[in-house]
Amino acid sequence: MKRTLPPAVSIRQFAPPDVPQTSALHLNALPDDFVTRFGQRFLARYHLAFAESPYATVIVASDYATGKTVGALLGTLDTPAHYGWLVRHHGASLVLWAAVRAIRNPKLGWDLVRTRAARYIRGIARSFIPEKHSGKGEKSRDNGVGLLAHVMVAGDQRGCGIGSSLVEAYENRARHAGLERLELATLPDSRGAGPFYEKIGWEYGGARISQSGERFALYHRALLDEPRQEHSDIRPWSKRGESGC
Ligand SMILES: CC(C)(COP(=O)(O)OP(=O)(O)OC[C@H]1O[C@@H](n2cnc3c(N)ncnc32)[C@H](O)[C@@H]1OP(=O)(O)O)[C@@H](O)C(=O)NCCC(=O)NCCS
Repeated sequence: MKRTLPPAVSIRQFAPPDVPQTSALHLNALPDDFVTRFGQRFLARYHLAFAESPYATVIVASDYATGKTVGALLGTLDTPAHYGWLVRHHGASLVLWAAVRAIRNPKLGWDLVRTRAARYIRGIARSFIPEKHSGKGEKSRDNGVGLLAHVMVAGDQRGCGIGSSLVEAYENRARHAGLERLELATLPDSRGAGPFYEKIGWEYGGARISQSGERFALYHRALLDEPRQEHSDIRPWSKRGESGC
């Protein structure tokens, strides 16, 4: 689905100087994400890890005139390989920032231990089991399924086509990387964005209760039924939309 972006907004690949703005945007736009509870310093490291991972991607929407980041998307191109890579390369600093935050906020620390500690420890242990192959961008255990982990648009820029353009850029990148399918989990109530995903062509895949006891709505998007597109990092300028965005 082709959309019209606001005039000065470009969709492009993340660069490290984007971190302060993408992590600040995450903090404001996704207050209900578990990772958000660990604060901006944790989020900054988390975004950098996604951007550096050969198995993930960060796509940014920025206002060319002001340099302001108005949207961002974090997605994987091979989910198990990405999280293994993240633990090995950024695990220590992520744990450090999470621990600092948890000491300052014991309720958060308790929630972390109660709902996720065992799973995270298993994940850390798994991440040190050698992969059969680990070349940059190669598929490993997940057979071409990517995870749209987070997408966010600044509050005053919503409804202008930025969110759908970010998802479309991710779909194109995933298709180009040879993925067959994308998945995501969103909160099932008004804090989530199920209706947005349905509007842009994703299919509802049922409800799930995570191992941490939280309820999610699952969505997926098959990629093979559409022609493979050449991947382009920067979209051309677009004309002003009718909405006045
Ligand atoms: C969800 C979000 C990323 C959408 O970005 P956006 O830039 O506002 O979306 P777009 O302008 O591209 O909208 C595309 C279409 O979806 C619709 N849409 C957008 N958000 C919607 C929502 N929450 N519910 C229903 N429809 C929605 C738009 O009206 C538009 O429809 P149209 O084509 O008929 O005009 C943005 O609202 C956001 O950042 N929300 C807070 C964070 C969030 O919930 N992220 C997702 C967590 S999983």
